Amino acid sequence: MSKRRIYIIGAGSIANSHVQTISKLPIDEVETHVSDNNPIVLQQFKERFPQVIPHQDTTAMLAEPARENDFVIVCTPPVSHCAITVQALESNRHVLCEKPLAMNQGESRSMLAKAQETERLLGCCSSRFIGHHVTETMKSWVEEQKLGRLYHVRWLYRGQGSRSGVVVGSNRSWCFDSQQSGGGVLMDWGPYDMTAINDILQPIQVDVLHAWMAPPVSDAVLPEGAVLDVEFHIGASMIYHCQDGSQVSVSFERGHPAYASSTKQFEFQGTEGAVEFDWLDQDGLTYYYNDQGMVGSQHVPYVQDENAPQMLERPLFYFFQSINGQPSPAVLNERAVFNFNCLRAVYDCVRNRRSQSVRLEDL
Ligand SMILES: NC(=O)c1ccc[n+]([C@@H]2O[C@H](COP(=O)([O-])OP(=O)(O)OC[C@H]3O[C@@H](n4cnc5c(N)ncnc54)[C@H](O)[C@@H]3O)[C@@H](O)[C@H]2O)c1
Repeated sequence: MSKRRIYIIGAGSIANSHVQTISKLPIDEVETHVSDNNPIVLQQFKERFPQVIPHQDTTAMLAEPARENDFVIVCTPPVSHCAITVQALESNRHVLCEKPLAMNQGESRSMLAKAQETERLLGCCSSRFIGHHVTETMKSWVEEQKLGRLYHVRWLYRGQGSRSGVVVGSNRSWCFDSQQSGGGVLMDWGPYDMTAINDILQPIQVDVLHAWMAPPVSDAVLPEGAVLDVEFHIGASMIYHCQDGSQVSVSFERGHPAYASSTKQFEFQGTEGAVEFDWLDQDGLTYYYNDQGMVGSQHVPYVQDENAPQMLERPLFYFFQSINGQPSPAVLNERAVFNFNCLRAVYDCVRNRRSQSVRLEDL
């Protein structure tokens, strides 16, 4: 049997993680090709991972005729996700694209159109928290209406730590420049947020009624020549329209660094109960319920499956399962684009000062 072939484009920070995950995939033999338009980065990558086959020219790398199960992982900054994904799909390979999927809704739609035309899978790495015990528990409780009629979700993360997008030991100044990144904290962390909320609620339409964003001013030293024009604090009031016709109000906020207390609240409130959780602390869920007219609470601990893929490994494991035709929680094609468009609608609401609607059936 021929070797499996995986192609990574962009040999920066996150590519390190994907190469390590590839070595854990259930494949006997794999050929990993990597391209980067920075020869120094490519050389350093090859030194760290001698098993990879380096290419300075992505077009030449993808010119090799595709085999049925070849796939590409796009690990470049967001500004090039659309063009590279389209090129990779045109080479007849499935594509797993890093988050955020694109720069705007026009780009995400053209990526989906190309995936449909070439009959290849398009996945997004925003699925890090899908399949997590806490997310799965929430999803099943919502499905079985354990909380009664769900009416409100609060999704709040405010931190005082470093600017969003800054990775220790790296100089990723593209994160601060909207022409390269598409935005700030929402483009960085929002893909995980929206993918998790959407996975739990499975909406068919999301309305962004009102949204705001701000660039908290700081005297932190930026890399020389860096452009800083992205938001570090953003929020939105949204209505989620669910498949059963119900509507859920979602209050969303993300900020780091924000001039406020560090706060995390992930809450789902229903007429017969509520849940609070934090998948980052891996602490589990707190379930509030009616206890003879009083509010009872129960802590449901996080159950870690040592054999399941870990946070950084999940997107690649799930995508690999999908390509092999196995059941998988991967977020693909229309759902991946819908999740991204919900995120982008928050920016569109701020910029246009008008509410926005994103409908799954429009894709
Ligand atoms: N670093 C992380 O922890 C992390 C985590 C999750 C997701 N991501 C996402 O992964 C993507 C990449 O982030 P990163 O942190 O690895 O960035 P990075 O700057 O460390 O690496 C990007 C690499 O892509 C190369 N590159 C840029 N344009 C290219 C092109 N057109 N063709 C070939 N190579 C090109 C650059 O030379 C660079 O080596 C971003 O979308 C980011 O949001 C990063």
